[in-house]
Amino acid sequence: MAGSAFGIMVFSLSAFLSLALLGLVSSAKFDELFQPTWAFDHFTYEGEQIHMKLDNFSGAGFQSKNKYLFGKVSLQIKLIEGDSAGTVTAFYMSSDGPQHNEFDFEFLGNTTGEPYSVQTNLYVNGVGNREQRLNLWFDPTTEFHSYSIFWNQRQVVFLVDETPIRVHTNMENKGVPFPKDQAMGVYSSIWNADDWATQGGRVKTDWSHAPFIATYKGFEINACEYPVSIAAADKAKKCISNGGQKYWWDEPTLSELSVHQNHQLVWVKAHHMVYDYCTDSARFPVTPLECVHHRH
Ligand SMILES: *[C@@H]1O[C@H](CO)[C@@H](O)[C@H](O)[C@H]1NC(C)=O
Ligand SMILES: *[C@@H]1O[C@H](CO)[C@@H](O)[C@H](O)[C@H]1NC(C)=O
Repeated sequence: MAGSAFGIMVFSLSAFLSLALLGLVSSAKFDELFQPTWAFDHFTYEGEQIHMKLDNFSGAGFQSKNKYLFGKVSLQIKLIEGDSAGTVTAFYMSSDGPQHNEFDFEFLGNTTGEPYSVQTNLYVNGVGNREQRLNLWFDPTTEFHSYSIFWNQRQVVFLVDETPIRVHTNMENKGVPFPKDQAMGVYSSIWNADDWATQGGRVKTDWSHAPFIATYKGFEINACEYPVSIAAADKAKKCISNGGQKYWWDEPTLSELSVHQNHQLVWVKAHHMVYDYCTDSARFPVTPLECVHHRH
């Protein structure tokens, strides 16, 4: 009896919280939020999981049906098992056009037994060149792990199993542009990139090991859906908290990482980061402005 009363209390508390803060949690089936964009025959559906494959005929990709401004997007992915050298599996958000913004996770395959690498990048107003690379602290091919992008007006955070691996802080006051006024779609794709992806392009895709299959589940988009039907000027306003509406991602506690998350990020950088554009002085003789000011 005590158990069920507790259950009801938890239920009503969460019902109250979701009423108090706008932004609906949708943990949905693939079809509700996404659609394949190309190579429809390279998808297989198995209950709540989808498999997307690369073979010597084609890669494949899917994208969200809607566009979003601020919030959090998560996917659970099980990456290509065994030999994945030469392949890239990407999960990213992007707006459209030459001045686009983009937040990228790119999972770079490797030969059997060698670690996958995760490259992240961030484009603002069409300009990228902000690569970071790390080796994960687990084998991403044996189980599902969650990969998320959290985005509000103060920061963009890349998370792996809820551990932050990268933060791009709003430093507009230092003259660094911040992505905050372009709605973004959510995308994933798998393709052959053996000219650069694995060990600098030295290891090529071994097509005798095809098909290369990435598996997905747990599609979650908890973000402000950007309306297509209303005037452009009003669209952005809809996704910004004001007196009448308050989005959970605009809570003051989410304007920066928590102390715990900061510790996690320091740990990731110390033990798992293998490349950071901020410290690549051969490539950037003048340190990029956001790297100078960044606390991390
Ligand atoms: C692949 O494995 C090699 C050897 O362990 C490692 O140096 C490299 O960073 C790994 N990742 C990629 C994408 O090449
Ligand atoms: C694709 O790879 C398979 C297996 O290696 C091979 O039999 C087939 O001929 C290849 N097809 C093309 C179009 O290259």
